[in-house]
Amino acid sequence: MNTRAHALRLDAPHGAGIDMRAEVCAGLARRPKQLPSKYFYDAKGSALFEAICIQPEYYLTRAELALMRRHVAAIASALGPEVLLLEYGSGAGIKTQMLLAHLEHPVAYVPIEISSSALRQSVARLRDRLPAIEVLPVCADFTRPLILPTPQRRPDRRVIYFPGSTIGNFDSASAVGLLRRMRAEMGDDGAALVGADLIKDPAMIEAAYNDAAGVTARFTLNMLVRLNRELGADFDLSGFSARSRYNALASRIEAFIVSRRSQDVRVSGRAFHFDAAESMLVEISCKYSHASFAHLCARAGLRVAQVWEDPEHLFSLQLLVNDGSSPQ
Ligand code: AVJ
Repeated sequence: MNTRAHALRLDAPHGAGIDMRAEVCAGLARRPKQLPSKYFYDAKGSALFEAICIQPEYYLTRAELALMRRHVAAIASALGPEVLLLEYGSGAGIKTQMLLAHLEHPVAYVPIEISSSALRQSVARLRDRLPAIEVLPVCADFTRPLILPTPQRRPDRRVIYFPGSTIGNFDSASAVGLLRRMRAEMGDDGAALVGADLIKDPAMIEAAYNDAAGVTARFTLNMLVRLNRELGADFDLSGFSARSRYNALASRIEAFIVSRRSQDVRVSGRAFHFDAAESMLVEISCKYSHASFAHLCARAGLRVAQVWEDPEHLFSLQLLVNDGSSPQ
């Protein structure tokens, strides 16, 4: 871990704007078109995701909270004392508060979050609720190389917390890459605690990503609002719709933005054509079996040491440790 200062980190996203223009243009130039789901999370998108979490169809958040309520003491004791907790994509951090409150003498908490508004809110809430814990926020894209702050006390163990099934937003090659990074980041005796949504009735999964109130559709289309504002794009919002489908063969939700008509859009001075009914993939959300998740981890040199589930077996939290193989 690096010893660089951390005072300014909250307001210094790591050049997100520069990467965004290039990544968006590259995604729009692809056939089929595709945009990275991380661009959902501006201030409005993060707020809409919070609204998704309380929709009746979106079982993930409720299941993970039920899991935490039931197992948090066992989880904390499996992690042990003097933990430095790093969280990838910290969001609102309610589950994190539960975990930190149960850890024995935690050394510090490092939330790494791409949305500065979400980060600021969760840090304020945490400092209010658990004032004794050192909090070292980092506003950054956790998929990029990170410079991490150094806590005042020396930890016994580094634990990476990656809840919410955000791992599901990565295809298997990227997920393995990310898990390898986590393995390197946590060190030989470290651990990772990763939320993984489980394969279940496809109708239940599909409903979770197509809520009747239309919050998910607004969340999805907000990406275009953001591109208009931040990249000077001219997406006409009335010309696009959103829909999510469960691909049972790939065990994943696929979220698309669909063009309602033939149209041209300008982004950063470049024109991109959309055919009528052309769909653009903006998010995948993978669902796992215990075997498929363990296999994914094995490809990254990680072993599943323990698994916890909610009472309805909808969602899992997986404790991962280094499997002792040489790093790939
Ligand atoms: C934040 C990645 C956990 O994939 O379920 C929710 C994002 N997208 N509804 C998920 C999301 C549409 C969510 N994660």
